[in-house]
Amino acid sequence: MKALLISQDSQLHAEIAAQGAARVPPLSIGATRVSLREAIERLPADAPALVIIDAGDIEAADADLLDRLGKHYSSASFILLTGAVQHQDLLIRAMRAGVREVLQLPLVHHAFHEALDRIANATGIALLRDGKVLAFIACKGGSGATFISTNFGYGLATLADKKVMLIDLHGQFGDAALYVSDQKPAMTLADVCGQIARVDGPFLASCLVHVAPGFGVLAAADDPTNAGNLKPEQIDTLLRVARQYYDYIVLDVGRQIDAISLRALDNADAIYPILQLALPDIRDGRRLLDIFRSLGYAVETTRLIVNRYEKGGKLRLQDLQSALGAEVLHTIPNDYMAVTDSVNQGVPVLQLSRSSAVARSLAELVELVTAHRVPENKGLFDRLFGRGDNHV
Ligand SMILES: Nc1ncnc2c1ncn2[C@@H]1O[C@H](COP(=O)(O)OP(=O)(O)OP(=O)(O)O)[C@@H](O)[C@H]1O
Ligand SMILES: [Mg+2]
Repeated sequence: MKALLISQDSQLHAEIAAQGAARVPPLSIGATRVSLREAIERLPADAPALVIIDAGDIEAADADLLDRLGKHYSSASFILLTGAVQHQDLLIRAMRAGVREVLQLPLVHHAFHEALDRIANATGIALLRDGKVLAFIACKGGSGATFISTNFGYGLATLADKKVMLIDLHGQFGDAALYVSDQKPAMTLADVCGQIARVDGPFLASCLVHVAPGFGVLAAADDPTNAGNLKPEQIDTLLRVARQYYDYIVLDVGRQIDAISLRALDNADAIYPILQLALPDIRDGRRLLDIFRSLGYAVETTRLIVNRYEKGGKLRLQDLQSALGAEVLHTIPNDYMAVTDSVNQGVPVLQLSRSSAVARSLAELVELVTAHRVPENKGLFDRLFGRGDNHV
């Protein structure tokens, strides 16, 4: 949010700038004017969303300028900062001009933040989302976590109209963006974490590879040194902000377990280990789930996705569930042609081969996850879950 500050007090300016920068999303002072008159005569190029006025500088004769400013920025919010003694007349004029927040100077920081929260709630920012973090983690290299997470993200956006951001958490050789796009990422996870204090919705959006309306990918840190500089707290902040602007944050966790991926998993609402129905995958899956148990992750949050599933194999889904002690949420069929074409061309399979078995299966996964979001929809979930022998 950008603010116009009307004050001569440089210390107050610094104080508000510091408090504003600490907010999520940050409040920045876009322009400063020393008086109401100057604010009217020299209008900032960008209309501010918030006008903060230091009333200590206002002469009684200038009070009508408040009305003019209020009319000029009719869609902005106003905060009036008053000294110990303030003319009642001025306060009444300010109220008439649309000022809803009056705070005492010296600034009490928590009162300032409360006022900003009220303003955020009363204006469009109340439309902040409460996104869910879904983590896809490969039990074994090449299980298909990147293919599934990227194509699932695309499906969530295009089939379910959700606003989706995928974060590629691979420490090395991250390639999620390339699975669904031919654009070279301008910014990576490392760049975003390096400027974590700046992160808000517009900044995040500017860092993504835009694959489709409502679906963007934040590429992995481009080299291991940059990946090594990431801090777990930065992941907390990134996900906290991302939840406000996206319905779903899909994580391609890869298969490395380190401080960064663990912090991301700690934040996840659901974890989907991806594996194939083969003993080596089951062994690795078991190790992974043991780690999750030792970390205290609730069993219900972890559901398996079996990739390259072929019916009639020696191992049954039931065996997998008992071996791992976790439910299978979904199976994705083996579809070599459709998947290879999609991955090679960098075009989502739901776009390239809409009627392929794998595209249909991904669409079902979107349905399962979006229906399952609301616990009251359990009936629908059960129905979908029990439908066909593709599901357990
Ligand atoms: N359902 C499927 N049918 C056929 N081939 C598939 C399927 N899913 C994935 N593949 C193929 O398997 C390969 C590995 O998939 P992917 O890169 O998504 O795995 P990953 O788990 O992300 O691997 P890594 O450990 O390297 O990150 C890809 O080349 C892809 O073409
Ligand atoms: Mg991968």
